[in-house]
This record gives sequence, C-alpha cells and structure tokens, in this order.
Amino acid sequence: MSSAHTIYLDHAATTPLDSAVFLSMQPYLTEAFYNPSATYSAARKVKQAITEARRSIAHHVGARPTEIIFTAGGTEANNLLIHGIMRQFPDGNCVVSAIEHDSVLHPAAQYNQRVAGVLSDGRIDIAALKTAIDDQTVLVSIQYANNEIGTIQPLRDIARLIGDVKQSRLKVGNTRPLYFHTDACQVPVYLDIHAARLGVDAMTVNASKIYGPKQVGALFVKSGVHLEPMLLGGGQEKGMRSGTENVAGIIGFAEALNRAQIERHEESKRLQMLRAQFIEAIQSRIPTAVINGSIKHRLPNNVHITLPGQDNELLMMRLDKHGILCAVGSACSASDEEPSHVLKAIGLSDEAAHASLRFSMGRSTNKAAIQRTVEALANSLG
Ligand SMILES: Cc1ncc(COP(=O)(O)O)c(C=O)c1O
Repeated sequence: MSSAHTIYLDHAATTPLDSAVFLSMQPYLTEAFYNPSATYSAARKVKQAITEARRSIAHHVGARPTEIIFTAGGTEANNLLIHGIMRQFPDGNCVVSAIEHDSVLHPAAQYNQRVAGVLSDGRIDIAALKTAIDDQTVLVSIQYANNEIGTIQPLRDIARLIGDVKQSRLKVGNTRPLYFHTDACQVPVYLDIHAARLGVDAMTVNASKIYGPKQVGALFVKSGVHLEPMLLGGGQEKGMRSGTENVAGIIGFAEALNRAQIERHEESKRLQMLRAQFIEAIQSRIPTAVINGSIKHRLPNNVHITLPGQDNELLMMRLDKHGILCAVGSACSASDEEPSHVLKAIGLSDEAAHASLRFSMGRSTNKAAIQRTVEALANSLG
C-alpha cells in the first residue's frame, strides 16, 4: 500500500484507480450484478449501461460503437488484432517496430514478421519501415508512444506512407489488404486518440494506464476490416470476444477515458513543465546523467535516464527505501535479467541499459515530489 509519504513515479506501469471511476463501477459489482445477456429488465439495464460505455469510448476514438471490441486489457487486444488478421493470410507478413510492447512482438513473431528499426531518439526510421513493407505485407503495427522511453511515433506520417503503398498496389492490381494498427495504451491521458485523424485502421487502448481498472481494454477495428476471433463461445462482442462481459470494468473504463480525454490538454501542459524542472534538476545535481529518447516527441510524464557506472536495480531499491517508486526497464512485463529490447534498439549498450531508470509521473506528482526524488537519487549513487 502507498503511504502519504510515498512518491509514486511508475504511472507507465499502472495508475491508481480514480475515485470517481471506482464510484461509477460500484453498482455493477453489487446490486446491478446481472448478466447483460439475460433478458429480464434488470439485466437489460446492465446491457444498456454497456451500450452507453461503448458509445462514449467510440466517441473519443472517433469510431462507431460497432467498431469497439471490449477485451481483458491491452495484451489481449493486441493479440486479437495480430492473430485475428494474420491467421487469414498464411503467406502474408506483418511489420512491427523494434520497440513494440511484448504483447505485439510475441504474437507477431508467430507469423512472418519484419522488424523496422528506430533511430537513436526512439522515433521510427521511416526509410527502414518503407523497406520492410513489401507486396505481401498485410499489417503494420506501430505503437503510438513507448512504455519505456515515452517516445511518440509520427502516426500520420506512417499512415501517409501506407496510403502511398496502397496506391501503388492498386496500380499493379495487388488486391492484398494492408492494415495499420497502433497500440495506444500509454497515451489517452495526454494525446488525441481519434483514429481517423491519426490515420489508423485499428487501435488498442486499455484502462489500467488511465486511472481505470485493470484487465479491461478495447480494440477499435474499422468496419470492413475482418478479424478472426481468438476466443470462441457465447458470441459476445459480436462474436469477436466471447465471455460474459466485465461489466464494472467496462463502465469504469468509459468513465476513466472520458476524464482522461477532457483533461488531457491541461494535464499535458502541467506535466511538461514538471518534466522540464525534473530534467533540469537531474542535470544540475548529476551532470553525468543522460536522458534517453527524444525530448520533443515524448509523453509529458516520462523521464528516462542513464546514470553511467551505476546499477539500476540497486538505485531502485535505495529509492524505494526513501519511499520513491520508479522502474528499471519495463515494469509491465515480468522482470528478467535481459536488458530491455527498447534500450538496445536505440543503441544503448547492455551496461548502459543496466544503469537506466524510468520515472513516469502522474496526477499526484508535484514539484515537491520531483525535488525530493532528485535529492534522494543524488544521495543514492554508488
Ligand atoms: C504499450 C503497452 N501495450 C500493451 C500493454 C499491455 O496492457 P495490459 O497490461 O492491459 O495487458 C502495456 C502495459 O502493460 C503497454 O504499456
């Protein structure tokens, strides 16, 4: 449990549940417990609540409600999209970036997968991406923002490139579809997630990074994009994701997304200012610290640093003793000894990767917390 003195700087791993979100969920965990597929009026009301939540989420994604599939989180949504498309094209290939979340990289690796590299600032290498897409490519999946270094990808530029490829295919009579998916799990608190403005055909979002509950997410799939379901059964979610709906989770997700999107400009501005102060304080107290990833194209809450010669596990444990919670590598995957594939992809040595820390700020972060963190970090160096 976090105490009043805890400074939580791991919002990229997960966020606390917003109290209004919790309140919105409560009735569906208690008196309104009915299975939405039942036909009596009490259950129909529950079904109606899901319909409204779907409509609200679709509104923020700029989608039709029928284009939203609820899942048990971001991992499942990414798997559904990748398997759902790739199983239909055994001779096709999919293109992903080298810094995707494992829930994209691992399912994609089961098919003919091509990996496009990123530049040292963490942005996709558009030339490498262009080379990776060939006549057999059916899917390009590039994340919106990275969970480790916070880098924001130029989705509109990628969508333009994909549009050009489609045009050239038309000219030579290649009728193979080419879909563009983005994993947007890290972004709704800060950025626009309107699919048409971004130029994507499919998008993954989840609730646990946006002050909503865990184990609930959604896959937006543009109408006309056919998916093969992974879970077969009762036919919920128009057959795309069978299983009794996580009603309270879905209601909480909609509430969390609504607040995130309404407040995103203000929260982004606030955290951008805090981040600048954070980086300035680190650089003045620890001049050897190196900031990883683009500063300009970066989520406002992310500070990722390498402290040459230091051991990140040790630093993290020392900060923990000061009540400061941060991450080494990607805290949303099971911990392993391997250096992060993201840090390797931007050119860090294994040694530098093992000397790196991620601080991800959130709604509770203020200037005093940043000052205390930098002070504790400077005093924790080996
Ligand atoms: C970018 C990204 N994609 C996918 C996921 C997986 O989401 P979930 O934990 O909801 O399965 C995460 C975090 O865990 C993430 O940061």
